[in-house]
Amino acid sequence: MKTHLLLLIIPLFVSLSQSLNFRDHEHQTHSSNLKIFHIFGACSPYKPSKQLSWENTLLQFQNRDKARLLYLSSLAVAGKSVVPIASGRQIVQSPTYIVRVNIGTPPQPMLVALDIGNDAAWVPCTGCVGCSSSVTFDSSKSTSFRSLDCQASQCKQVPNPTCNDGACAFNMTYGGSAIAANLTQDTLTLSKDSIPNYTFGCIGKATGNSLPPQGLLGLGRGSLSLMSQTQDLYKSTFSYCLPNFRSQNFSGSLRLGPVGQPVSIKTTPLLKNPRRSSLYYVNLVGIRVGNKVVDIPPSALAFDPVTGAGTVIDSGTVFTRLVEPAYVAVRDEFRRRIKNANVTSLGGFDTCFNGPIVAPTITFMFAGMNVTLPQDNFLIRSTAGSTTCLAMAAAPDNVNSVLNVIASMQQQNHRILIDGTNNRLGVARELCT
Ligand SMILES: *[C@@H]1O[C@H](CO)[C@@H](O)[C@H](O)[C@H]1NC(C)=O
Ligand SMILES: *[C@@H]1O[C@H](CO)[C@@H](O)[C@H](O)[C@H]1NC(C)=O
Ligand SMILES: *[C@@H]1O[C@H](CO)[C@@H](O)[C@H](O)[C@H]1NC(C)=O
Ligand SMILES: *[C@@H]1O[C@H](CO)[C@@H](O)[C@H](O)[C@H]1NC(C)=O
Ligand SMILES: *[C@@H]1O[C@H](CO)[C@@H](O)[C@H](O)[C@H]1NC(C)=O
Repeated sequence: MKTHLLLLIIPLFVSLSQSLNFRDHEHQTHSSNLKIFHIFGACSPYKPSKQLSWENTLLQFQNRDKARLLYLSSLAVAGKSVVPIASGRQIVQSPTYIVRVNIGTPPQPMLVALDIGNDAAWVPCTGCVGCSSSVTFDSSKSTSFRSLDCQASQCKQVPNPTCNDGACAFNMTYGGSAIAANLTQDTLTLSKDSIPNYTFGCIGKATGNSLPPQGLLGLGRGSLSLMSQTQDLYKSTFSYCLPNFRSQNFSGSLRLGPVGQPVSIKTTPLLKNPRRSSLYYVNLVGIRVGNKVVDIPPSALAFDPVTGAGTVIDSGTVFTRLVEPAYVAVRDEFRRRIKNANVTSLGGFDTCFNGPIVAPTITFMFAGMNVTLPQDNFLIRSTAGSTTCLAMAAAPDNVNSVLNVIASMQQQNHRILIDGTNNRLGVARELCT
């Protein structure tokens, strides 16, 4: 049995968008649309009470990214068995985007963090000691709630399972936090789709302050993730469009299921890496700056199922990280093309310029698909317009294996399709600011 992860949860709130139902020959196939909010956006309860300066916002994202990269990298540390989330070495991950879901009967709304690099689902339960959120899931008010017993097969997939009066319980650490939870099931409602007997963690005790307040919804590839639990309904297929983090009113969306997905969209094969089996890997074969394919040693981009090396697409990291030789090649060519400008640095960005610049394009070349990014996806400009930085960085060199991470800023205003039926990832431009 795989020791996969665990947790789960699900929350819910108001489902904002419509869902489509229709019948195909044998099955009912559904598609569910949910709005995606940026955690600092106007509609988020977590938006900073006072607007941070541009520089401070950047630094905050960069700090969160550092922790996130350690987390992604730690997925491969766990050993031979695949333990996407568990290992007690979790580092802080602060997801950037949140969605509203409902859990229980009658439905209780919650705002959960969306994370495609995670299989976990969990929510703080009423009575939780140490949970920061005032919004909690009250299982006593739900007629469809039940605890899983220690013999349940799912109980073997959680970290540190224990038996608590016959009920399956587990403990795990998450960033600087630790949680103790019961493994439970209830109805999860996403938009208009109901998912009965959804398995998630009901948190009874938490320490530390790095948990997403109202829970986490993992869309990774492990056995307890939303996509695995809804295989019949959604066929491991979903797409999302992330709004720009500076846009006030945004209408990002998460569309679950094969219905209503873009048909003509560029795609590249999805790869599965047994070392980090929750993550969505793709084959990045090169990077073009302007019309020049930069010189990157093949080992910096190679997919390796033994070490876990390769390129992943992630929603929880903000700025793309490339392993050092790849980043240096891109950065040097980028700098070379910006003439007559002095390079400065800001926080973790080492390629910034004062004053206006004319920037070359950047193209990610994946197997079978080139994606040329609009400038807003790779340049970050100060509010006053005086500083512009290349919004990518080298991966920290303490990570245990070579991992390139295509992050959320580089995905904003694109529809990213994870097509589990055909095992491919699609990308199309779409304005969802
Ligand atoms: C889980 O945490 C609880 C509360 O801190 C503790 O009492 C219990 O012994 C822990 N169980 C395991 C398996 O670590
Ligand atoms: C949900 O679990 C209950 C209790 O085990 C079971 O009776 C019911 O059939 C399950 N429903 C579905 C749709 O699997
Ligand atoms: C977890 O299960 C135990 C044993 O059934 C119960 O006493 C406890 O209240 C549950 N915790 C939560 C948060 O539901
Ligand atoms: C956001 O939407 C609200 C209501 O639709 C509108 O009043 C407001 O002007 C919008 N703000 C921006 C910055 O577009
Ligand atoms: C991507 O761009 C490269 C270099 O410009 C070109 O050789 C290749 O054919 C392109 N690939 C696709 C799928 O268009």
